[in-house]
Amino acid sequence: MIIEKDNYYILHTKNTTYCFRVLDTGHLEHLYYGRKITVDMEEADNWAQSGMEAFAERHTHIPGNTNTYDREHEHFTLEDMRLEMSSYGKGDIREPFVELVQADGSATCDFLFEGAKISRGKEPYQTLPGSYDDSGEAAHLTVTLLDRQYGLALELHYYVYEDCDVIARSSKLRNDSGSTVTVKRLLSTQIDFATSEYIFTTFSGTWGREMHRTDLLVQAGKYVNASYTGTSSSRANPFVMLSKCGATEDAGDCYGCNLVYSGNHYEAVEVNSYGKTRFVSGINPQAFAWQLLPGEEFEAPEAVMAFSAQGYNGMSQCMHRFVRRHIVRGEWRDKARPVILNSWEAAYFDINERKLLQLARAGKAVGIELFVMDDGWFGDRSDDTRSLGDWDANLRKLPHGLSGLCDKINKLGLDFGIWVEPEMINVNSRLYQRHPDWVIDVPDKPHAEGRNQRILDLTKTIVQDYIIAKMSEVFSSANIAYVKWDMNRTFSDYYSRGLAPEQQGEVAHRYVLGLYRCLGELVRRFPKILFEGCSAGGNRFDLGILSYFPQIWASDNTDALCRAEIQYGYSYGYPMSTVSAHVSASPNHQTFRETALDTRFSVAAFGAFGYECDLGAMTREELKKIEAQIALYKQWRDVLQQGSFYRGRSFRDNTNGGSVLVQAPGNHMEWTCVSPEGGQAVGLVLQKLTMPNTQYAYYQARGLAPEKKYHFYSGLPGVREDYQLYGDALMYGGVCLTQGFYDGDPGGERCLYRDFDAKLFFMEEE
Ligand code: DGJ
Repeated sequence: MIIEKDNYYILHTKNTTYCFRVLDTGHLEHLYYGRKITVDMEEADNWAQSGMEAFAERHTHIPGNTNTYDREHEHFTLEDMRLEMSSYGKGDIREPFVELVQADGSATCDFLFEGAKISRGKEPYQTLPGSYDDSGEAAHLTVTLLDRQYGLALELHYYVYEDCDVIARSSKLRNDSGSTVTVKRLLSTQIDFATSEYIFTTFSGTWGREMHRTDLLVQAGKYVNASYTGTSSSRANPFVMLSKCGATEDAGDCYGCNLVYSGNHYEAVEVNSYGKTRFVSGINPQAFAWQLLPGEEFEAPEAVMAFSAQGYNGMSQCMHRFVRRHIVRGEWRDKARPVILNSWEAAYFDINERKLLQLARAGKAVGIELFVMDDGWFGDRSDDTRSLGDWDANLRKLPHGLSGLCDKINKLGLDFGIWVEPEMINVNSRLYQRHPDWVIDVPDKPHAEGRNQRILDLTKTIVQDYIIAKMSEVFSSANIAYVKWDMNRTFSDYYSRGLAPEQQGEVAHRYVLGLYRCLGELVRRFPKILFEGCSAGGNRFDLGILSYFPQIWASDNTDALCRAEIQYGYSYGYPMSTVSAHVSASPNHQTFRETALDTRFSVAAFGAFGYECDLGAMTREELKKIEAQIALYKQWRDVLQQGSFYRGRSFRDNTNGGSVLVQAPGNHMEWTCVSPEGGQAVGLVLQKLTMPNTQYAYYQARGLAPEKKYHFYSGLPGVREDYQLYGDALMYGGVCLTQGFYDGDPGGERCLYRDFDAKLFFMEEE
């Protein structure tokens, strides 16, 4: 619900309130964002009575050595205001929301209130993906601000998704002046808090080590989370959190924010000299410069904000619901995802029809539903030095082409999928020989290398058209049910031959826009294909990609222990149905660690599930076990794919998810996934290292219905857990776990089981 009264704007979701007001200078003062508060609009004669005025700062005293806005407002300094957006140059010396170079060379701008409009529903953006609202649930507030000195208009958009407790924001700048303006930054959201008591949580990493949570209490200065890889990146995911000290997984104030964007992004938290905290998020301003011609508009991506007073889990629930309902779209949004067998870790580039069919047959025998041929099937591709761009089947490997192989796989009773990397090109390819000018590079200058490949210049319409046409040809050349869309290089040598020198600061963003055009068109043409995003694992795991593809390969690291930490990290901002996860070989190919097959299954089962290993190299016992795992997964697939995911204790913290300030490293990972109606749930306890003579291990559920009685049992043979328990007992008490059940009793040691072992638990309403 959006309320507009006098100069106040109040946005209510089910459990949160966001409000701001227009000052008599025309600036927007942010007043409050957090737990829902009562605003008595009906009864109140004025704002003092309604309680709203209490939030407003008095501005009766100006700090020393600051600038006043103008002569008429002598107690008013922008340096110490909570603002909905901050312009550069009029006294606010913090992170600006907008930064321009005007036609006269000045960097000063000043956007002041012009008008506001409330409407329902959500229109698509012109250039970017965004959340959608097919239920008419969203309320929309547009605030227009004008820089009257220079003839610029800035629109701030607010979308209120009541049920999800989400407020989405975006902005758009229009050049109504007669001259070109350089946009150096236009961010998506800004939240100014009155105090400096917030922990900024980011999820950083790199290849094979994505989404590692880091907490920092920002009390002075600035902390930045940003990517400059050209993608949202495995280095710094755009999803971040701000929480109040003392927040845990289940209690305390927590804000989450994510961007619907797949390129270079920027999130900063800054505490000013007067103890106010500013948070901003948007396109990374580094090396960004956009020439906005007279009459043109520039759209900034949508930022998605959620708040919960029920801690990190509470906020994650809002984000999960929102991503499932308002970001992921199309046929596969709610459809059961198939159990996949992928050829990559089974055979890498060394594939041919015979080998693939053998693997597929072995997969069919254990219950696999969809077989994916990964890299190596096209051109002359036998390693990563060649053929990206030559998207025709290698007839030495696949004598009957894609359709020949696909038909045979289909005849086995399996669906068929392929891997592609359409945004890339090898210098050693036919495509490069034909179009050396289609790549991102600085002409006649040396180029940095990355996996022996270059990035196609998607800022060019002709290149986008080629990708759309060529991929359409490939996708319709056989009965293709699934496509893994990979992207394995980070950007360097940013330059497009198609753009003028003064436009080179537009390359990174124009690339993302070109990519979105390709994805949008292909998804529209092939609505039945299940697309999976990928970028060297999780180098482009974001809400932009999820606006087209319902799932993303989360990491090239398939080691169960590492994967548990990586998936745990993703779970803060993304529902598990978007996180693709496979069981692979042991010893693991990335870490060489040996883990039990049950562990690998238990961790992967919480994501979009599959296998990625040479089934032909498995023992009969292992294959029998895999068959049982897949059968068990299918039985619980609805719960695992559609359910609500909750974190319990973790390796990083044994104190219920507390921030860095109260953290005690843990030895267990504890997850629960509860069916939408609450009648069924799956739990996991994963142990890191066995420790003799230590604490008893407990499993404590989350998210159950306290009043429901559940049958609680363990999925593994020979395990004693089998109880009838109420939801409240399972959640607040927990179950003391059987010790050392493998190979008999390991000498009475008070350990749960062996290093890296995991246990699944099942709960069914009686
Ligand atoms: C990187 C991906 O993340 C892997 O899963 C695999 O598809 C390779 N690329 C293939 O080159």
